[in-house]
Amino acid sequence: MIEPKSWHIELTSRCVLECPGCDRTWFKKTFKKQIIQDIPIDDLLNFFDRNNFLSSEINLCGNNGDPIYHPKFLEILKQLKKQNHKIKIATNGSAKTEKFWTQVGDITDKQDTITFGIDGLDDTNHLYRKNSNWDQVMTGVRILKDRPIKKIWQYIPFKQNLSQIYKAKKLSKYLGFDQFLLMPSDRWMEENMQDMKPDSHIDIESFIQKTQLSGNKMKPQCLTNERIYIDSDGTVYPCCWAGTYRYKFKTPFGHKKHNISNLVWNDIFQPEIKTFLQNTTSYEKAHEVCKMNCGS
Ligand SMILES: C[S@@+](CC[C@H](N)C(=O)[O-])C[C@H]1O[C@@H](n2cnc3c(N)ncnc32)[C@H](O)[C@@H]1O
Repeated sequence: MIEPKSWHIELTSRCVLECPGCDRTWFKKTFKKQIIQDIPIDDLLNFFDRNNFLSSEINLCGNNGDPIYHPKFLEILKQLKKQNHKIKIATNGSAKTEKFWTQVGDITDKQDTITFGIDGLDDTNHLYRKNSNWDQVMTGVRILKDRPIKKIWQYIPFKQNLSQIYKAKKLSKYLGFDQFLLMPSDRWMEENMQDMKPDSHIDIESFIQKTQLSGNKMKPQCLTNERIYIDSDGTVYPCCWAGTYRYKFKTPFGHKKHNISNLVWNDIFQPEIKTFLQNTTSYEKAHEVCKMNCGS
């Protein structure tokens, strides 16, 4: 993360869905409340400007929220494009109007990408993507069909949608998607996720590859300078895993001084942060969150 090449940004913690595998849903269920945060637009733009991080790759996704529900999403998109960034948007695609999607199409160009998380067809998508509305998702898909932005259909295989994969892939072509991406879930811990688990794991090849790795090796993503994480309260973390509810206060990151509102990038590299980053390369010394996500 010393010379960031790309960013993963959670613009907002808001979402209209309640996916059972989402950290936001877990938090709401556990603590009976929601944390609503929206990145202040000026903080974000000034941060990139102040630190000369222009023309980067920015992935608008997040651990908890969905970027399209930031109240100033279109304005942020417009301003980030003025700073010459390549934008990737990850969304469930519900609850927005034709006008909204037309503006997304107007602001973006062929350098940008939108990934719709659609886990099934009209009769199954809402089973995991709880509260999603098929017609609303299709409004976005239809309006962006002939726009230059690259379009990806990301499909998480569950028991209820396994038999629809072929049909969905075919539909994705018809709807103008550039790519159909099967993404196996890595979240089966929640009790209510068990019923959705496919009987046979869909991604057997990559599972075999993973189990063949020799173990105790670290391949830290943060040292590749990719996908440095900024959460919806503006705090910087080396990756999105370190910014989850479980770990955000358990590493040397997550302090007020790491907030984009006034951060000068090089000031982040204080001794405790340098040690944390150095330790990511050693399985023995790496923090638990690093071992879990960047260890093999
Ligand atoms: C909280 S979502 C944020 C973006 C947006 N709300 C969405 O659904 O794409 C974070 C990411 O987790 C992915 N995701 C959701 N459920 C998942 C699961 N069970 N396994 C793996 N990834 C999942 C989403 O597709 C998205 O890329």
